Amino acid sequence: MSFDVAKIRQDFPILSQTIRGKPLVFLDSGASAQKPRVVIDAMRNAMETQYANVHRGLHWMSERTTEAYEACRDAIAGLVNASDRAEIVITGSVTNSLNLVAHSYGRVMKPGQAVIISAMEHHSNIVPWQMLRDERGIELRVCPITDAGELDLNALETLLADRKVGLVSITHMSNVLGTYTPVERITQMAHAAGARVMFDGAQAIVHRKVDVQAIGCDFYAFTGHKLYGPTGIGALWARRELLEAMPAFLGGGDMISSVTYEKSTWAQVPHKFEAGTPPILEGIGLKAAIDYFLSIGHEGIAAHEQDLTNHAIARLSAIEGIRILGRAQDRGGVISFTLDNAHAHDVATLLDRQGIAVRAGHHCAEPLMHRLGVESTARATFGMYTTREEIDALADTLIRVREFFV
Ligand SMILES: Cc1ncc(COP(=O)(O)O)c(C=O)c1O
Repeated sequence: MSFDVAKIRQDFPILSQTIRGKPLVFLDSGASAQKPRVVIDAMRNAMETQYANVHRGLHWMSERTTEAYEACRDAIAGLVNASDRAEIVITGSVTNSLNLVAHSYGRVMKPGQAVIISAMEHHSNIVPWQMLRDERGIELRVCPITDAGELDLNALETLLADRKVGLVSITHMSNVLGTYTPVERITQMAHAAGARVMFDGAQAIVHRKVDVQAIGCDFYAFTGHKLYGPTGIGALWARRELLEAMPAFLGGGDMISSVTYEKSTWAQVPHKFEAGTPPILEGIGLKAAIDYFLSIGHEGIAAHEQDLTNHAIARLSAIEGIRILGRAQDRGGVISFTLDNAHAHDVATLLDRQGIAVRAGHHCAEPLMHRLGVESTARATFGMYTTREEIDALADTLIRVREFFV
């Protein structure tokens, strides 16, 4: 199917709105993407016609809902090219997935072992490791980035050299700089040093094809709501043998095989890691989102977003006083910028008056802000439905906004 942004926009009911009398220009998809009608319909249909709790019920409604919910696991397995659907743990978000690994795989790591993260991580790939460090004596190492905003691979090599590293956990795409990290290379380096590797795919999976077998990593985490699906659902792909060896994280219903007061035993993976009633409706919605995303196709989405990114960089860098953060060779549709003499919040507020939604703040990446020498940035992020005209609206409005601050 050829990529047709006008047609795609018709699939997203929210986009046809006007805000303060101006057409909505939604440039905040990196925070959370809008939902196509198929996702809304799938969740509504389930609630109207086919809904019950899953896995445990013996009645028709429960069996049908279980099938619909479990189809999400297959869709996720297909999306990341997992070799086995049992390698997909359904979680509440990428944050939950990262915490699962920190609190479960982290517990099989020994005091004195290290975890490497990078200097461009979201707080959700920093704080769980700090907790682990403080509880278990794990060392936390931070791989620096270059001034262009790329991972410093020489520094990574040095940080891995003592072979004390148990896990490298790094973003696949920075939510501030738009940088893609070289995941295959990082995996080879970490494995050569005897470490496991996890990628935070929250941003990357929305824009590029992810093949966990080709990457060769051990864990890959992402979140549903940035992938045009609902909130409240995410996933962790992990090698089956690792999941089997890892201790259970949350305890409760659905994750057990048997329970007595003396001892409980766990269900097979992935259910061992899925305590409690799962995100049933969200799973049904995410399956619809993945099907929709794949029906549009990675190639068309990636080419369209690359064109938008190049256009945005060209337009914004031509505006005096605007500084775009990050100049990585391999980068995607996340553009953080500052405007001389202006606070990012004021820039975002003035843009909002013209119906343009961007995010402003530290983007849950405070240490990265310190590295970049800024307190906050404004950030425009793109989805498959973003248009060149919207980028032009952003640039034209920024030219006017700038006049407030000169
Ligand atoms: C790179 C990255 N990691 C993690 C997260 C956290 O996502 P969630 O809040 O859905 O768990 C985000 C969301 O902004 C992100 O961009």
